[in-house]
Amino acid sequence: MRAALDAGIDGITLAAGLHLGSFGLIEDHPRFRDAKLGIIVSSVRALQIFIKKNARTNRLPDYVVVEGPLAGGHLGFGMDWAQYDLATIVAEVMQYLKNENLDIPVIPAGGIFTGSDATGFLESGAAAVQVATRFTVARECGLPADVQQHYFTADEDDIVVNEISPTGYPMRMIKSSPAIGDGIRPNCEAYGYLLDANGKCAYVTAYNREVAAHPGARKVKVMDKTCLCTHMRNFDLWTCGQLTYRLRDTTHRLADGSYQVLTAEHVFKDYQFSTDQKIALPERQEV
Ligand SMILES: Cc1cc2nc3c(=O)[nH]c(=O)nc-3n(C[C@H](O)[C@H](O)[C@H](O)COP(=O)(O)O)c2cc1C
Repeated sequence: MRAALDAGIDGITLAAGLHLGSFGLIEDHPRFRDAKLGIIVSSVRALQIFIKKNARTNRLPDYVVVEGPLAGGHLGFGMDWAQYDLATIVAEVMQYLKNENLDIPVIPAGGIFTGSDATGFLESGAAAVQVATRFTVARECGLPADVQQHYFTADEDDIVVNEISPTGYPMRMIKSSPAIGDGIRPNCEAYGYLLDANGKCAYVTAYNREVAAHPGARKVKVMDKTCLCTHMRNFDLWTCGQLTYRLRDTTHRLADGSYQVLTAEHVFKDYQFSTDQKIALPERQEV
């Protein structure tokens, strides 16, 4: 964060987790009150805790992203995520801010799939929306082309939330992700470290357990945890939003059976201009 602020970045969104100490880490930075700082929460309670714990820095977040249970990747919910609903949480957050006389923009995220979904939230007071899933199948997205085809072909029951992330948070992914069950040797030195408060990574612990249980095996299988750093780096862990199974309805099926990749511009314009829950298909491309 300090390096980003030093480099003149406009703003930082603190994602994945509660960030109770993150403002404190940069409060002495000259740009602490000048750069935009946003947070992501999945409940009004998480927001209340954040505001209480950071009151001493005399600095409120500049915006609050409210991420609901249908979002991609790590979730701020337990395995009971399906019992929650984005619109309800957004309304609770807005009510809380109003009661506290806090004028902080609220940005809902998670399952906002059409322009109509977006305008619904904007009309009820949201400052913006945060979207991701629709862009996973855009040419500009970093996913390799063959992996994008897995996103297009995923059915609803191919999208799972499990607990294999060593972070301890439930995570949503496509269940055919090569990372699931893979027993790769941890590659912490090359790709970074994902450690818990005790300096341990749950994957390294699980991997060592399997190696000890299968002496002499050339390769082990680790089912309960995944080597997040390596597999994300190699695009083998296909994290996704819940509505990924609707992506095939946003494009054309080509003569060779594959789905036509979109452009970010097309998806962006569709969010801006579509009405009545419609999704505009792109101009059909020749194979
Ligand atoms: C493939 C994918 C990966 C994601 N990875 C992250 C991440 O690393 N950190 C994060 O804060 N949010 C991540 N998200 C969540 C998005 O930032 C966003 O809040 C959410 O997915 C929006 O909902 P939507 O995907 O239904 O549009 C990811 C989303 C997707 C689809």
